Amino acid sequence: MQQSRYHQVYAQWQNDPEGFWRDAAGSLDWIKAPTQIFDKSAGIYGRWFTDGVCNTSQNCLDRHVAAGRGDQPAVIYDSPIAGAKRTLTYSQLLREVELLGHSLKRFNVGKGDRVIIYMPMVPEAVVAMLACARIGAIHSVVFGGFAAHELATRIDDAKPKAILAASCGLEPGRVVHYKPLLDRAIEEAHHKPETCIILQRPQEVASLIEGRDYDWMALRNELEAKGAGPLAPEPMLATDPLYVLYTSGTTGKPKGVVRDNGGHMVALNWTMGALYGVEAGDIYWAASDVGWVVGHSYIVYAPLLKGCTTIIYEGKPVGTPDPGAFWRMISEHKIKVLFTAPTAFRAIKKEDPKAEYLQNYDVSGLKALFLAGERADPDTVKWAEDILKVPVIDHWWQTETGWAIAGNPLGLGMLPIKYGSPTVPMPGHDVHILDETGKEVEAGKMGSIAIKLPLPPGCLPTLWNADERFHSGYLNEFHGYYNTSDAGFKDEEGYLFIMGRTDDIINVAGHRLSTGGMEEVLSAHPSVAECAVIGAKDSLKGEVPVGFVVLKAGANAGHDQIAKECVRLVRDQIGPVAAFKTALVVNRLPKTRSGKILRGTMKKIADGDAWSMPATIDDPAVLEEIAVVLKNSTIA
Ligand code: COA
Ligand code: AMP
Repeated sequence: MQQSRYHQVYAQWQNDPEGFWRDAAGSLDWIKAPTQIFDKSAGIYGRWFTDGVCNTSQNCLDRHVAAGRGDQPAVIYDSPIAGAKRTLTYSQLLREVELLGHSLKRFNVGKGDRVIIYMPMVPEAVVAMLACARIGAIHSVVFGGFAAHELATRIDDAKPKAILAASCGLEPGRVVHYKPLLDRAIEEAHHKPETCIILQRPQEVASLIEGRDYDWMALRNELEAKGAGPLAPEPMLATDPLYVLYTSGTTGKPKGVVRDNGGHMVALNWTMGALYGVEAGDIYWAASDVGWVVGHSYIVYAPLLKGCTTIIYEGKPVGTPDPGAFWRMISEHKIKVLFTAPTAFRAIKKEDPKAEYLQNYDVSGLKALFLAGERADPDTVKWAEDILKVPVIDHWWQTETGWAIAGNPLGLGMLPIKYGSPTVPMPGHDVHILDETGKEVEAGKMGSIAIKLPLPPGCLPTLWNADERFHSGYLNEFHGYYNTSDAGFKDEEGYLFIMGRTDDIINVAGHRLSTGGMEEVLSAHPSVAECAVIGAKDSLKGEVPVGFVVLKAGANAGHDQIAKECVRLVRDQIGPVAAFKTALVVNRLPKTRSGKILRGTMKKIADGDAWSMPATIDDPAVLEEIAVVLKNSTIA
């Protein structure tokens, strides 16, 4: 393969990782510049920039205002659902962040306190995150598509002093009543936050509980009227947590991924130039949600660290109002780089296969499309290339890493694209394919994908209050490596191919979900004796969950009724985002002789893939029964 700038930069990192990250850190403002770049004796696998002192919000805001970007749009809000648009310049965003920071301080929220943010895609969600960063509080954003129970779980784990929420979210054709969900979650949780600050949206004004709930804008306007002054950014150690983001684990208990301040800002700022090829002043759109890691990293922090304009889009790729929605956004806001999940493009392609809506818009300003969150299927990548005539770049990462483990670095000169591969490891990541004994496998052979420790800046140092879970979930399987729980291979040229998870995580419309978590919910149904949930192939969402339930003897409701209740239970307990629409009643589940449920084989049958009878199966007839039930269901 021809050597490109990428190879030089990767080699530069390999030869001197500390020098590499010291240089990257130089692009940011430090209250005290780090002298120690990496301390291998600190934390679980070492810590980055241990003696550095900084503030992330200062780097996202004040630094750009001081550099003359005060009047540049920082955030453009565009909501086809609400019919609203709004722009906040860097100076205005800084002011809003200071005002909310003052409000939080008034309720004694400060450094190290946790604040849960439960908000839809409105500019105040960005304000909320940055206000926490400014005062040193640790935010934990919970995605709006989760149900009250999931929110309660996170409240009990993070133990927030305050919650910032909106009265409602807006999905096409329905208002999501956030405040009642919040009230229910607080009722269910053992930990009770002292204060809730509620953004009342025009679509729904929520009732407030006296002494606990406060109106966000009333607090803000009161401070403004009193002429509240600036709010100095809190000095934070680079290793102090900036946020905790919960993600699906292998059980119903989500894992709190911790992100630090210093390493995070250095790594993300570096990726904007090197990977995404953008500069300060460029308009960058990550069409995701602030509740996911893509939203944290590439709607909020990275574009603002770089001095770009970021987009808050409260809409969908289709139906708001039509499959031309993304093209309108690109042309209207002069978007240079778009980042979304492949499922968004599959949705557009399904409704407008010939991309006829594209004819109505000038998208010539778009320079690249980045895809992540799930496997980018070659058909979708090629379709996007054909219609947009720009590089379509798959890149692979996880909530845990916070930025791309592998990608095709636009800013370093792209490598040739190989369909089905997110290309090559990014500097910082030493990626290996290992067999079950931890031995490197040869090119072309499948194995577990692991990253040699230490992880680069920006990746998780641990899980919130769960060091042991971090060890057992990620570090214990392969000594000296972080186990990604993805399986795949490298080809002769070092290109990575990501083939799927090695655990029970599934990917539904780019959303990460645990089938184990859904099984826990189904098992709680009084008529369910046992169950299994698999991710079945879906042409739009990549995968959708399908539940198989075995009923207790004497279950007295009809099968259809129980199946409906199961679907409702998952929606009520986990949330609509689980997209759990199919529960199939079966007589028995296929198991090995040692009692392990054969979910892998069930998935192959559901997907219509070739499958063979596992040698260890207890009763081969059960798989035939499953095949018949699937054949008679709507998913087959
Ligand atoms: N608040 C409340 N509910 C939400 C929600 C939110 N923020 N986001 C999604 N939901 C609901 C949806 O309304 C839907 O409810 P329904 O069962 O009543 O229809 C359910 O959760 C499932 O959502 P989703 O799987 O996203 O399906 P969808 O049909 O609403 O949209 C896509 C499908 C492909 C258009 C959409 O998933 C999409 O745009 N994805 C690409 C971008 C992206 O989200 N990436 C994430 C990581 S990068
Ligand atoms: P999340 O933590 O929600 O970002 O989900 C991470 C998981 O999504 C990864 O472990 C992969 O299984 C999958 N994933 C993300 N990006 C890609 C990609 N580009 N190709 C294949 N799988 C991906």
